[in-house]
Order: sequence, then C-alpha cells, then structure tokens
Amino acid sequence: MIQLIRGFKDILPEEVELWQHIEKTARSLFEDFGFKEIRIPILEHAELFARSIGEDTDIVEKEMYTFPDGKRGLITLRPEATASVVRAYIQHSLYAKDPIQKFYTIGPMFRRERPQKGRYRQFYQINAEVFGIDSPLIDAQLIFMLVTFFSRLSVTEIETHINSLGCHKCRRDFKDALSIFLSAASEKLCADCKRRSQRNPLRVLDCKVPSCKEAMAEAPSILDYLCDECSIHFNGVKNVLEKFNIPFVIDSLLVRGLDYYTRTTFEIQTSSLGTQNAIAGGGRYDTLVKTLGGPAQPAIGFAIGFDRLVEITDLKSADLGQKPDIFLAALGEKSMSIVFEWFCAFCVDGIKAELDLNGRSLKSQMKRADRLGAEYVLIVGEKELEEGSAILRNMNTKEQAAIPIDDIVERIKKELSQKD
Ligand code: HAM
Repeated sequence: MIQLIRGFKDILPEEVELWQHIEKTARSLFEDFGFKEIRIPILEHAELFARSIGEDTDIVEKEMYTFPDGKRGLITLRPEATASVVRAYIQHSLYAKDPIQKFYTIGPMFRRERPQKGRYRQFYQINAEVFGIDSPLIDAQLIFMLVTFFSRLSVTEIETHINSLGCHKCRRDFKDALSIFLSAASEKLCADCKRRSQRNPLRVLDCKVPSCKEAMAEAPSILDYLCDECSIHFNGVKNVLEKFNIPFVIDSLLVRGLDYYTRTTFEIQTSSLGTQNAIAGGGRYDTLVKTLGGPAQPAIGFAIGFDRLVEITDLKSADLGQKPDIFLAALGEKSMSIVFEWFCAFCVDGIKAELDLNGRSLKSQMKRADRLGAEYVLIVGEKELEEGSAILRNMNTKEQAAIPIDDIVERIKKELSQKD
C-alpha cells in the first residue's frame, strides 16, 4: 500500500472540526481588529525567499523545496507567507490605495526539516501582517490580539517572549561585539555555527545545539546596543503590554530564524509541547518592503503554528457543535421517500440533519443516531404514516411524543429554535 510521505499528514474529518473551529476563531477576531484576508500562491520564484528570509538561514540553506520550472527558472514551495504578502503589497501597489494595510492569510507552508513531534514538512500557519505603521502601539496591539486569540481557545499555558533586534545602525555595533565574542568561543560551537559566525553571527544566537546554547549564555546582549530611537520604541512596546496586563519575558536571544527582522521580535511559547515550544512568532520587518523593490514602509506581523496549536488545544469535537440536530429514521420505502424530502428541507434551512439511506432496522438506525450524538430522532414507519403522525424522540431526556406530519418541518424547526 502506498503510504503518505514522511513529515506530511492527513487531517481526518474528526480532526478537521477542531481545525475549522480554530480557523473561525482567528477569522472572527482578526476581522474585528480590522484585518482583511489575502490569498497568495503556494509557489513563488525561489529568489523571493532568498532575498527576504536570507541566504544564510537554515530555511534557505537547507529546507526549501526548490525545483526548476522550464524557462521560469527555480521555483519554491513557500516556506512561509510573509515574503509573498510583501510581494503582493508591492506588485499590486496596495500602498498607493492606502499605505496602512492589515492582512491575514491561512494555509500550508513547506520546509524540509527533520520531522518530529510538532515539526512537519508540510505545516499550516495563520499569518497576520500590518503595513505602514511605525508606532510601538501596533507591536503591542498584535501581541494583545495573539494572547486574546489563545485565551479564546482556552490555551492558557503560554509565555510571551519579546526582544528588540534594533535597526541596521545599532545592529552593526552589536554584530562587531558578537563576532569578537564568537571567535573567542569558537571551540565550543557546532560546525554550522563556526561557519555562520563569519557570515551571519546573529544566527548563532538561536542555535539549538546544547553546547552552542551554553556558550551563548555569556554572549553580549543586543539590548545593550540599541540606539536611542530603538530603545524608545522597545520601551513603548513594553509599557503598553504592562498597561494591558500582558505578562512577558525579555529574551535577548530571541533573534528568530529569518533575517528580515528589525526592532521588536516576539514568540509565544508553551510548556506543553516539548522542544518545538513556539506556537507563534513574529516581529517587525521595517526594511523588507524596500528591499523587495517597494517604497519604504514599516511592517510587522506574526504567524501562528496551526498544527502545534491543534496539538495543545483541549477542545474535543464533541464540544464544537458538529452533531446533527435531528436524525430521521424511516421504516419502509414509502416513509423513506417522504422523509427524504423532509431531510432536504431541513438542510436547506440550516438544520443539521442525518438520514440512513440504506433502509436498515430501526434498532441500527437508533444506534447510529446515538453514535452521531443527534439531539432528536424523528421516527416514521408505515403505521405512523397511516395515522398521519411521526414520533419525535428527545435523545437527552428520552421523552418521545407523536406529532402530526402536516407542516412537520416547520413544527420541528420551531421546536429546535425554542430549545436554543
Ligand atoms: P516562523 O517562526 O518560522 O515565522 O514560524 C511561525 C510558527 O510556525 C512557529 O512558531 C511554529 O509554531 C510554526 N512552524 C514553523 N515551522 C514549523 C514546522 N516545520 N512544523 C510545524 N510548525 C512549524 C515565520 O514563518 C514568519 N513568517 C512569521 C512572521 C510573520 N513574521 C512576520 N510576519
């Protein structure tokens, strides 16, 4: 039998209910905060990611699914969404309509990482990106929106980590200090970090190899190198978070795995997931729009790791209201043809109905209604039809009563609406 590819997965119908619930929660909250959905392609020119995420990152160096596509050159299955959203913002001159734009997008990303719990080769993200706002208020607002989102899903075991990576000006001095530190600590670094400390020393700060982590505990802190403007900005973010009573941890090693960040970076971490503990991450990328050929526009965003969130969300599909409101149990051909019409009328009217079209015994139909968690069962046999009635059984209270079949759809709709 052909199995799926390692690092990829099927999301089966009973799990999809939870995915849909999370997606609905995100859409509704983000739209209340003024975000509009944008849909972007899954394939892009490889160069887009190399120029935005950075040549010396793990993602671009080793994790992208890139392949030649005839005359179009190399194309890549997107490893993240930010670069594509920026491309679309520039390509469609969205900044000319209004430089301030807020987008969200939901979909699959692809990275050829070593698969393990919480880490997949196809995974899903919920992204939010804001363009055209310099103020630290938006940084804090995005973190507030994220924390609210997790609390709506009853995900409470979270910790918000924040840092500032400064601007290109203050980062230059920090990089110099870090390079000096790294050449002294070179013996303790892994092979990747030895190479990176020459080309992109910042990347060494978030290496997960234990010996590198240990060595980095003594590294200089970027926060000691912030220029006045970056310092004021970071204080602004912290002040608003405090005002909103959002607890946070200042984490000067939080450089994130992508090169486009400037100033604020943040991550929401959880203790419930093991090593892959980040359930969302993001930050400012004030120079990326210009780097990719657009006007100078500040920007900030985040991505939530959908798969990881599903793994730590306690909600069960039983809590999500995906059960039928009514199960129609028909006995005999004549009843089936009438009940079939009622079934369609219920569904058209937005009432979740279920019907067994295989004409099985009443006992097995009742069993199925129970298994599906139906609230009511409507039982119709030849005898009931002759009497012009059907039996409505409340599956919770086990009470049942005969009701006339004239206008039965309307009667049951009324009964269900009274219950709500
Ligand atoms: P990222 O930190 O690479 O950031 O990914 C964001 C989140 O996606 C992670 O915190 C994690 O939950 C999830 N994630 C990443 N890789 C995997 C994987 N292999 N398997 C499962 N989940 C994964 C970005 O992608 C940035 N584009 C975020 C951003 C948006 N920054 C600004 N705007």
